[in-house]
Amino acid sequence: MGLHFFIILFLFFSLLLVHTESTQPPFSCDSSNPTTRSLPFCKTSLPISKRARDLISRLTLDEKISQLVNTAPPIPRLGIPAYQWWSEALHGVANAGPGVHFDGAIKSATSFPQVILTAASFDTNLWYRIGQVIGTEARAVYNGGQAGGMTFWAPNINIFRDPRWGRGQETPGEDPLVTGKYAVAYVRGVQGDSFESGKGKESKVKQVDQHLQASACCKHFTAYDLDDWNGVNRFIFDARVTLQDLADTYQPPFQSCVQQGRASGIMCAYNRVNGVPSCADFNLLTLTARGQWGFNGYITSDCDAVSIIYNGQGYAKTPEDAVVDVLKAGMDVNCGSFLKNYTKQAVEQRKLAESEIDRALRNLFSIRMRLGLFDGNPVQQPYGNIGPDQVCSKKHQALALEAAQNGIVLLKNPDKLLPLPKKNTFSLAVIGPNANSPQTLLGNYAGPPCKSVTPLQALQGYVKNTIFHPGCDKVECGSATIDQAVKIAKEVDYVVLVMGLDQTQEREAHDRVSLELPGKQQELITNVARAAKKPVVLVLLSGGPIDISSAKVDQKIGSILWAGYPGEAGGIALAQIIFGDHNPGGKLPVTWYPQDYIKVPMTDMRMRPSSGYPGRTYRFYKGEKVFDFGYGLSYSKFAYDFSSVSKSVLHLNQSSATLDYKLVSELGPKLCDRKKVSVTVGVKNQGEMAGKHPVLLFLRKEKPVNGSPFSQLVGFQSVFLKAGERAEVEFVLSPCEHLSRANEVGLMVMEPGLHFLVVGEEEYPLTLIV
Ligand SMILES: *[C@@H]1O[C@H](CO)[C@@H](O)[C@H](O)[C@H]1NC(C)=O
Ligand SMILES: *[C@@H]1O[C@H](CO)[C@@H](O)[C@H](O)[C@H]1NC(C)=O
Repeated sequence: MGLHFFIILFLFFSLLLVHTESTQPPFSCDSSNPTTRSLPFCKTSLPISKRARDLISRLTLDEKISQLVNTAPPIPRLGIPAYQWWSEALHGVANAGPGVHFDGAIKSATSFPQVILTAASFDTNLWYRIGQVIGTEARAVYNGGQAGGMTFWAPNINIFRDPRWGRGQETPGEDPLVTGKYAVAYVRGVQGDSFESGKGKESKVKQVDQHLQASACCKHFTAYDLDDWNGVNRFIFDARVTLQDLADTYQPPFQSCVQQGRASGIMCAYNRVNGVPSCADFNLLTLTARGQWGFNGYITSDCDAVSIIYNGQGYAKTPEDAVVDVLKAGMDVNCGSFLKNYTKQAVEQRKLAESEIDRALRNLFSIRMRLGLFDGNPVQQPYGNIGPDQVCSKKHQALALEAAQNGIVLLKNPDKLLPLPKKNTFSLAVIGPNANSPQTLLGNYAGPPCKSVTPLQALQGYVKNTIFHPGCDKVECGSATIDQAVKIAKEVDYVVLVMGLDQTQEREAHDRVSLELPGKQQELITNVARAAKKPVVLVLLSGGPIDISSAKVDQKIGSILWAGYPGEAGGIALAQIIFGDHNPGGKLPVTWYPQDYIKVPMTDMRMRPSSGYPGRTYRFYKGEKVFDFGYGLSYSKFAYDFSSVSKSVLHLNQSSATLDYKLVSELGPKLCDRKKVSVTVGVKNQGEMAGKHPVLLFLRKEKPVNGSPFSQLVGFQSVFLKAGERAEVEFVLSPCEHLSRANEVGLMVMEPGLHFLVVGEEEYPLTLIV
């Protein structure tokens, strides 16, 4: 061995070192940097609020202003690296924003089903585990040097109010309770909290000092659920919302996201609410979120939402006024460049005090500190050891499959066409424009998935002799080759049609105008079904609901499945369900309206019906439906009974039984706690196949008055039952939370009278005396 060998060895290791260094994320407070390591903002023993104040006190006005936008530049003299606030992780870590890049060692991330399908599992524990995986993979991507930040702009928890909404796919559906619980589960998982509040290590640490695995963001605050419909777009739309609807439909998910989810971020929306742009609404951002709900994270604008306040809406008369409006309202960071361009002038014109900028910066730097980015080398931090091997791990990919399996909804199966026989299916035709499109499976805000198996490929794994025909030129289906599809359908044992929508039909900045299948899809389905030897299986991929009334009654269509946009493992989950290797148990998280519903203006935000206006969602809409909220079949039959209810009469006030209503605030949390009702529901799997089954408990009032909902989901739990097995699930109802609704001025009230607890066809009376 000569000197040469050692030189080569040395070069090799220095290359290795250079390589590791280049992939390591940048960090502040490097202990080897003598000028910064002793500064107070680097002292991990101090509370974060003190550290943030110290840091801000060292900045010049120009440096401060530079930090108010999503692409925050470095401050080299203080050893502070650049930070990118904008990253996305709606249903898996995504490169939809500028923060994350899949151009290094990590090329992809686990791609879960689009949220609307995940919601259909009605399983909070599953949602939490998905959140955990997303948070872990996010941290791994950051540790691998492939992310400019750790602030992720999800979940989208706006209510899916109108079936045409292009972004309804991103949400957990139309129900405020489901949406709130989804928010809590997702946020706690992503941020590294335990499933339930007050348990685990977080109970010992003040929230403001708590470390974050990654930061989640409740968006879009508030009443944002219209993108672009009939010439009205989200940038100029002024949502006219009643105080009543705001209080018991639009706001509860955000309140849960902040209070029980302990979210560290909020995004204010583009739209105005009753005239005021959300990002300029002091009442919304400061009084409600920070004041009433105790929010202590950061608030970002939606992208370019500040510019729009001046340019699009004309709400602010000058650019500087827009800057003043948002900073005084309580917004902290601008996605865009407006604050970078105009804040200095606002200060020079004496419209804005520097203290308003400091206020925003305290929130921003606190979050970066809670993410562990000011504690020295992040590899030595609590989440520093999460490596790239965690991304797309077997365990994570198995969870993506589980989520798809448990979300997919069986909508029709009267003669048990499904599951198809594994042994006696010798030939199969797979027809439709969605059968072999990997991109469609993912929905929007998706990154590159770990793997990609289309429904066609997965079905080919079950039946060798599978013939594929797309039927339509594309999902829009302006042109269809019906004759060829019919010819194939005639020759095979079974036919599976994979139809529906994709992002060309419903997406961000594009709402639908029709609820029917696009183009010639319906014609193709009808003709193929008529020609096939046996009734056919219809699979729908879509985020929003589709009016498939004719397929519902067509006897040649034996079974219908809705699979949302089921993610990277969705093709496999579908094939497993079709061939009986998994028993479907999902339930619809939205009402499926008939086409006729499009006569309702999408701009009408009212939830409650009034003359000539049908109202919205299962809580208020009594008209004709294609499928109900909560509808979904299984290969088994499940039977319910009310096995015990702790009270059938609930007295909130013995002395005065004559009140028309009682304010929730009057009863107070302590008394509310003491007045809880325990409801135990027995559920039995009467079928021959094991399966997961979500139990949905509703409450309905015998005589709904003053805008009380016809029916209201008050609890849901998913149980796994073997064939023949029975289990009991307990729901604990609090009158303040579950028996209340908003009155006309937006106060939560409880009304006396006869109510019914409802599960399936079973009802149990509950009388409330206030
Ligand atoms: C801010 O200024 C830059 C450079 O002049 C310009 O490109 C950008 O559009 C401006 N942003 C806004 C929101 O006005
Ligand atoms: C009963 O109602 C009366 C009148 O609203 C009120 O003064 C009293 O405090 C209530 N008692 C309880 C136990 O809520």
